[in-house]
Amino acid sequence: MCEYADGVPPIYVDGGQLQQALLNMVLNAEQAMKQSDVRRLTITVAREPDCGAVVLRVQDTGHGIEAGNRARVFDPFFTTRGVGEGTGLGLSIVYGIVRDHGGHIWIDSEVGRGTTFSIRLPVRAPDVWEPDSGRSQPLALVAHGDSVTRDFVAAALGGWGCAVRPVPTAREAIESLAEDAVTLAVVDRTVFDGDSQAWSDAWARVRDHVALIALARVDDEEDSRVFVDAVATLAAPYELCALRDALMAALKGGPRTG
Ligand SMILES: Nc1ncnc2c1ncn2[C@@H]1O[C@H](COP(=O)(O)OP(=O)(O)OP(=O)(O)O)[C@@H](O)[C@H]1O
Ligand SMILES: [Mg+2]
Repeated sequence: MCEYADGVPPIYVDGGQLQQALLNMVLNAEQAMKQSDVRRLTITVAREPDCGAVVLRVQDTGHGIEAGNRARVFDPFFTTRGVGEGTGLGLSIVYGIVRDHGGHIWIDSEVGRGTTFSIRLPVRAPDVWEPDSGRSQPLALVAHGDSVTRDFVAAALGGWGCAVRPVPTAREAIESLAEDAVTLAVVDRTVFDGDSQAWSDAWARVRDHVALIALARVDDEEDSRVFVDAVATLAAPYELCALRDALMAALKGGPRTG
């Protein structure tokens, strides 16, 4: 039985290797269920709620794995099969493939009831821009007073293909908006604390062609009306995937008009 959840995001894998891993697990499941009254193999693919990963599960109703063996089944040449029946390499190959994809594998098993192997594979963020795409590269202003967060956001946007202009102060953010061909502004609302009029004025001049993502802190005031144009407002702490989703929305929808 196969169950594939809706909305599973694409992952970048070596298809042949993943197929090999799946085959090794299915063969093991089949062998484990030989003596079982109920023989049911279930393969599921699901998206983790935080959207950072896809989880593939191979579940059987076989004899299970004794607790003492669970840590050993991934060791090369570990086998409980008779001479000539198994080399004990199947799961060590699976383990290597999962590790090479930046993933993680674990076992849930109950003796006499069955075993589930789960593989978690990270979702690679799609590049928002690629050099040979024929489109112009998005230029993102990142205005944040805290250097750690600023660097984090700038590195993430850069990794997804944006050119990035990181600035620490309101004055530099306003200058950059006026002088650079910025297409996206990622702005911590507190950068403009006490100077919201300056931001309103600067923003009014570019809002037709710049998309805005607002970053909010926990102690930030809710009523920041000058940021109503934001495509998305991310409240700290936010996940990297929330930033990516906001970025995709900003670049797809473009700036708000009206
Ligand atoms: N689904 C499963 N249910 C119960 N035991 C399992 C299951 N999968 C693996 N095992 C146990 O883990 C051991 C190692 O599995 P692995 O696939 O690495 O080697 P093998 O199946 O013994 O030999 P090979 O895959 O090289 O033919 C198996 O011998 C078996 O004891
Ligand atoms: Mg095997």
